Amino acid sequence: KRIAIFASGSGSNAEKIAEHFASDSQVDISLILTNNPQAGVIARARRLHVPVVVFDRTTFYESARIVELLQGQAIDLVVLAGFMMLIPESMVQAFPNKIVNIHPALLPKYGGKGMYGHFVHEAVVAAQETESGITIHYVNERYDEGAIIFQASCPVVATDTPEDVAKKVQVLEHKHFPEVVGQLLNS
Ligand code: GRF
Repeated sequence: KRIAIFASGSGSNAEKIAEHFASDSQVDISLILTNNPQAGVIARARRLHVPVVVFDRTTFYESARIVELLQGQAIDLVVLAGFMMLIPESMVQAFPNKIVNIHPALLPKYGGKGMYGHFVHEAVVAAQETESGITIHYVNERYDEGAIIFQASCPVVATDTPEDVAKKVQVLEHKHFPEVVGQLLNS
């Protein structure tokens, strides 16, 4: 089975997924793709010996090159791990129920355009939520609205800062995302 991972930032989730499958001869992290030439995921990919593709907005939205690249690599599952761009309809259509995303909150709350990373945790703290967590879902052409695959929660206490929440959520991401990806590949 062949996985492509899209990331825009640090890439810690991409790294955990790559490490999880490093000893599994049936699963290959074929590509790591990013829209951000400064993304930390590039250095992680190099260390993991995973080929990296850096693309720009025009290529992603106005050409078929990324979809053709994924099809050419016979990708079975596209994983979005901290990828900050909307997936174009053409890509959703080319990979039906084969694109999954992780969101650092319990959707449907705290989802949608612009609700990523720190903004999510700030909103959770501001709303005095007593829990937060992760949502892994299929991707359609609207932000964070695809069918939910998996959720896990963590407590939020009154003294938590957004950074405290981010840390607890990241533990859940690193623990569960690789496992869920593995289950999807075997389903
Ligand atoms: C994670 O919080 C993930 O839930 C969100 O973006 C962040 C990615 O972190 N989509 P990293 O780049 O994998 O470290």
